Amino acid sequence: MKILITGCRGQLGSQIVNILKEGASELGPISEEYRTAEIIGVDIEDLDISNLKAVNEFINKVKPDVVINPAAYTNVDGCESNQDLAFKVNSLGSRNLAIACEDIGAKLIHISTDYVFEGNGTVPYKEYDITNPVSVYGKTKLLGENYVREFCSRYFILRTAWLYGYNGNNFVKTIIKAAKEKGHLDVVNDQRGNPTNAEDLAHHILKLGLTEEYGVYHCTGAGECSWYDFAKAIVEYAGIECTVSPVTSDKINRAARRPSFSSLDNMMLRCSVGDEMREWRQALGVFVGKYK
Ligand SMILES: NC(=O)c1ccc[n+]([C@@H]2O[C@H](COP(=O)([O-])OP(=O)(O)OC[C@H]3O[C@@H](n4cnc5c(N)ncnc54)[C@H](OP(=O)(O)O)[C@@H]3O)[C@@H](O)[C@H]2O)c1
Repeated sequence: MKILITGCRGQLGSQIVNILKEGASELGPISEEYRTAEIIGVDIEDLDISNLKAVNEFINKVKPDVVINPAAYTNVDGCESNQDLAFKVNSLGSRNLAIACEDIGAKLIHISTDYVFEGNGTVPYKEYDITNPVSVYGKTKLLGENYVREFCSRYFILRTAWLYGYNGNNFVKTIIKAAKEKGHLDVVNDQRGNPTNAEDLAHHILKLGLTEEYGVYHCTGAGECSWYDFAKAIVEYAGIECTVSPVTSDKINRAARRPSFSSLDNMMLRCSVGDEMREWRQALGVFVGKYK
């Protein structure tokens, strides 16, 4: 089996490569079938997914059985001022991989986001709920999903949220650094979602990759909280002397609008291969213990 992973320097891509190399994640061993797999990790300098010709040539040469696509332009505020770049990477990049995978009959595991939802509800979104993104990031990611559905028959789309991993920047690392430097933080309390450890998501991606249970999945940490709750838990687990105060979103000046409630229900996982995603506090505690 040959597995191609895009964006392999990023939080999720690097975690997938590590788990494949080690044969296990924090959730347990991955299938024996992966032991002999050839792992090909690429990032933008090896393969720019927004270039259709390059993607077609690369995939036709390597002929992977499974392509995992965590590559994306993930700067949510940056997408507002760089709309063409966001569209090229998040929408066209996904389309290009879908076309190339269909051409050689490969499975495509594509990663999407909770920000495809408007976020004005109170009940966690299920896979069949209607999308209506409120930011350029969310809109370009949704179009990427649609292209994957349209151009590739053997697809998995996994929507995740509030992701943190050992490589790259994320909210957990930002809060730890700021808490140590400032001793006081103001964090928004009117946006709710699901913190997700990249290790858990990677484990489920690899579990799905061996199946033919195609479709759209929600895959986030169990339980929900606000960014304020998340920050308080990070500071607590890291044992840093720092007070955290709740503020409303209108006090923080950001380019992109965020959903106020984007919690996801992992219904499809539960009903297919099983939902082993850890409770968000448990997975966070393990991460902070290893990171700090
Ligand atoms: N982070 C979150 O909180 C979050 C939440 C929900 C969903 N997601 C989704 O989860 C996936 C993984 O996120 P992540 O946090 O692991 O992302 P990440 O750390 O930003 O990694 C993305 C990787 O893709 C690379 N990349 C950017 N443009 C590319 C291009 N044109 N061709 C090839 N590679 C390119 C990036 O390189 P550079 O660093 O050089 O740009 C980076 O190494 C993404 O699809 C994201 O939309 C993330």
